[in-house]
Amino acid sequence: MATYPSSPPTRPTPAEPVKPWFGQFALVAIILLGICVAVFAVAAVTTMWAADEARDEAKAVAANVAAGKAESAATAQAAHDHNTALPLNSFAGVVPDNATELAEAHKAYDATMPAVPSGDLVKVQMTLKDMVVEVAPGVKYNTWAFDGHGAPGPIVHVREGQTVEMTLTNGGAIPHSIDFHAARIAPNVAFKDVAPGDSFTFRFEAGDPGVYMYHCGTKPVLAHIANGMYGAIVVEPKEGLPAVDNEYVLVASEWYLNGDGISEPASLDMSKARAMMPDWTTFNGYANQYVTHPLTAGPGETTRFWVVAAGPTLDTNFHVVGTIFDRAWVNGDIANPPQTGVQTVLVPAGGGAVFDVKVDEEGLYPFVSHAFAHVDLGQVGLLKVGNPKGTMTH
Ligand code: CU
Ligand code: CU
Repeated sequence: MATYPSSPPTRPTPAEPVKPWFGQFALVAIILLGICVAVFAVAAVTTMWAADEARDEAKAVAANVAAGKAESAATAQAAHDHNTALPLNSFAGVVPDNATELAEAHKAYDATMPAVPSGDLVKVQMTLKDMVVEVAPGVKYNTWAFDGHGAPGPIVHVREGQTVEMTLTNGGAIPHSIDFHAARIAPNVAFKDVAPGDSFTFRFEAGDPGVYMYHCGTKPVLAHIANGMYGAIVVEPKEGLPAVDNEYVLVASEWYLNGDGISEPASLDMSKARAMMPDWTTFNGYANQYVTHPLTAGPGETTRFWVVAAGPTLDTNFHVVGTIFDRAWVNGDIANPPQTGVQTVLVPAGGGAVFDVKVDEEGLYPFVSHAFAHVDLGQVGLLKVGNPKGTMTH
């Protein structure tokens, strides 16, 4: 059994000099008392300050509640108008007072799937330009984007087996490049940086059907994608997919602004981008644009959504309110049978998916990222089926 040394004696032995115990005790007591008084004083001041702050907060909360009530009333009205439970007119970011008129005046990005060009070779020409675009009503942003399109860039639609000849012309101030996820190609050769004023052409065979992202791959990629350098390429399978009545392409992305973009165009806030705290999230580059300018379908028609999440960082949880996906090619894997009867599908940043939905009943069907912060930030639109009552002006 182990033995332990006994505690050392705590009382002084007669051999040691006797210490002035009472004097030491008094000194310690005085110091402790002093500390206590100081602590109480600080606590009292803090409490008073906290009380003041709490009063201010209470006032602010009251004001917010009042504002919230007004907003809820407006939202309820909008929800009633749109015959849906979503706050479709809310803008989490700052917009000018005339946002509604500006949203109506905005020309929505055409989400309609373009036809596949004929022939074995599809020539795609994009010119990169530094340009100001609107990302929400009255909110301007300095992009690096594709001339004639802004962000996203043009929808590229090809058929499996076609060869894509891509020419990137750099009309901007710094080097840029273009990376096609649909290509199997050495990126150091094809996706190389193109100097300002230069053009670069490369070819790849679109051998893998699906819906893919393309983007600038110049470092820092986070900044180049966040500034608008992205788009979608659809590679239709040779034998085709089931025929549908309407096809739309949606590119989800987010914007990080270093100002409100109202008095002057905002630019990228890199720290917000790194922290993944966007000011706006969008389908096809502009908050809520398909709420004001809905995509359309007829009752009983099937609509196909080709969805890419461009990020630069955030995923999209694609869902259509009021219905269920009849077919969902998750991860854009259209070489295999789709999933059926699914409600929400994750489209990862840098990924894509395809969704078929047949809607019989006339109405307004919001499509959203079901991560609802995205809806508040602008990633919501409407599929208008038929001509539901009260929507003639939309
Ligand atoms: Cu770039
Ligand atoms: Cu990529």
